[in-house]
Amino acid sequence: MRAAVLAVACALALGACAEDSKAPTTAGGDANRGRQVYLAQCVACHHSDPSKVGPLGPPVKGSSRELLEVRIVGGTYPPGYKPKRDSAIMQPMPHLASAVPDLAAVLK
Ligand code: HEC
Repeated sequence: MRAAVLAVACALALGACAEDSKAPTTAGGDANRGRQVYLAQCVACHHSDPSKVGPLGPPVKGSSRELLEVRIVGGTYPPGYKPKRDSAIMQPMPHLASAVPDLAAVLK
């Protein structure tokens, strides 16, 4: 009996997690929100025009959603991706995970 309850609880918990992790990647990004996040979080280092070189960071226009996800949330690069710079100045910003689709929409 206890095991059954536990199994149901686990299934529910897993279901909830799957929902959560799916939401940011399946939802279409909102370019307006993305622009706000970009201006608030990124232009200290990247240019306000993402196609230009910023004070610290390289141009980020055209960054894929996958690149943004891995670089912003995890601080690394997708497998096989050749970074524009070898430095590691930009720290991971996992709190921006939910904004990745919006950032992708504004940087595409
Ligand atoms: C503290 C300065 C700083 C901030 C803030 C910052 N970046 Fe960066 N970013 C860099 C630097 C410098 C690099 C080059 C690699 C390195 O040194 O980390 C970089 C690299 C990148 C790359 C990889 C570019 C490539 O193709 O190799 C992306 C994408 C990126 N930044 C996007 C963003 C976004 C989006 C934000 C805002 C959410 C942001 N960055 C905030 C400094 C920053």
